[in-house]
Amino acid sequence: MSVAHETHDLIIRGGTVIDGTRAPRFDADVAVTGGRITAIGDLQDHRAHQTLDAQGLIVSPGFIDSHTHDDQALLAQPDMTFKVSQGVTTVIGGNCGVSAAPLTQDMDLPMPLSLMDSPKGRRFTSFAAYLDALRRQPAAVNAASLVGHSTLRAVVMDNLNRPARIDEIERMRTLLQESMAAGALGLSTGTFYPPAMHATTEEIIEVGRPLTAHQGLYATHMRDEADHVMDSLDETFRIGRALNVPVVVSHHKVTGAINFGRSAHTLPVLREAMKHQKVCVDCYPYNASSTMIRNEPENLSSPVLIASSRSHPECVGRYLADIAKDWGLTLEQAATRLQPGTAIYFKMHEDDVQRILAFDETMVGSDGIPVGDRPHPRLWGTFPRVLGHYSRDLGLFPLETAVWKMTGLTARNFGLQGRGTVAVGQCADIVVFDASKVRDTAQYDHPTQAAEGIHAVLVNGTLTWKDGQHTGARGGQVLTRSRVSL
Ligand code: ZN
Ligand code: CU
Repeated sequence: MSVAHETHDLIIRGGTVIDGTRAPRFDADVAVTGGRITAIGDLQDHRAHQTLDAQGLIVSPGFIDSHTHDDQALLAQPDMTFKVSQGVTTVIGGNCGVSAAPLTQDMDLPMPLSLMDSPKGRRFTSFAAYLDALRRQPAAVNAASLVGHSTLRAVVMDNLNRPARIDEIERMRTLLQESMAAGALGLSTGTFYPPAMHATTEEIIEVGRPLTAHQGLYATHMRDEADHVMDSLDETFRIGRALNVPVVVSHHKVTGAINFGRSAHTLPVLREAMKHQKVCVDCYPYNASSTMIRNEPENLSSPVLIASSRSHPECVGRYLADIAKDWGLTLEQAATRLQPGTAIYFKMHEDDVQRILAFDETMVGSDGIPVGDRPHPRLWGTFPRVLGHYSRDLGLFPLETAVWKMTGLTARNFGLQGRGTVAVGQCADIVVFDASKVRDTAQYDHPTQAAEGIHAVLVNGTLTWKDGQHTGARGGQVLTRSRVSL
């Protein structure tokens, strides 16, 4: 592929390559030119303008965060340090029914949409406008996005507490069609949340019709991840079959003490469905979830840590039970008073987290919420935690598998061509890390800390993280879905 004496932009010398396909690691130099990988092997007689020493280190594809809420952060915090510092080079936004576009300028948005809103007057009224803004002002990482069904509902419907009427479904469908044509990856839903709770399965199928021709994805924060998780899985599969598109079960979990251990039942059901249709699944490596502050009793039955509160910022970092006691209120009353904001819910069992993470087809997605000073530590720690804590320290799976779950598998599932593997001709999204030292340092009480052991990160061949520092580079691109045969 490469002429022996050409001069590359950069050579990563002396490292051990884990290529993102789950193949065993091998020692090789990796050369990069013009944003692509141009040679892999013994490149001693190749020259380069720049050299990175990777002796004793792993060279792997840049990590793809399969589940993010970075839609606004890409524009408002374009360095994306919380992701780059983990080795993440691509983020997929628009999840859980919430996307940055299409919106209208003046409308009031309900939670959780309002949590990730841009200032009124600076919203994106079309998906094309959002992607154009990202192209004009690139972030440090590549970005791809889904369209949120709750966002479509909020734009089209005057009352969210009912199923959509036929005319409203048609308007949502038109907006989805336009968004897909502009380059969206697919549609996401969040029927767990009030703005979409009243949507029927039929509504989602009818809104989702444009996905079929585009072979877009259907990703879902399911209606119920607790007592009715099996029904939710059925609904998800049914929507995928009706549209004949791949489905993504987002941040798969089973919540509530009564459901502990139930992943032993959900995973075989997922496995069985995969025989008949394309089913993808992701999860984050923590036993606490995080989302908007909810005030229904069923959401407050396990410990709740306040992560952000617009009305009571002084309560951030405290447990809801303590706050309620101080105020002389019930949990529900205190939660209501703390809205709008975000909270962390300790409602999963570690055994389920590990079983789901270790499931063969599970991708790693952070579900990080880049809002406030005390976010869930998954925002800064997800990828190093899988590599360090779960793969190396607990031995849950080999490092090759860990890398595959955050690179090759994800690129394949989302149709991100040219990404996710280290091979000649691929885009040069690359991480150099120390397998013996990589570690998440973000904790619940100090959650915004960069991981250890990530030596260098290249995004489209541009050095973006080096020696614990952001280089200031913003070489991210907008990625759209390539049609893949499944
Ligand atoms: Zn979600
Ligand atoms: Cu999410």
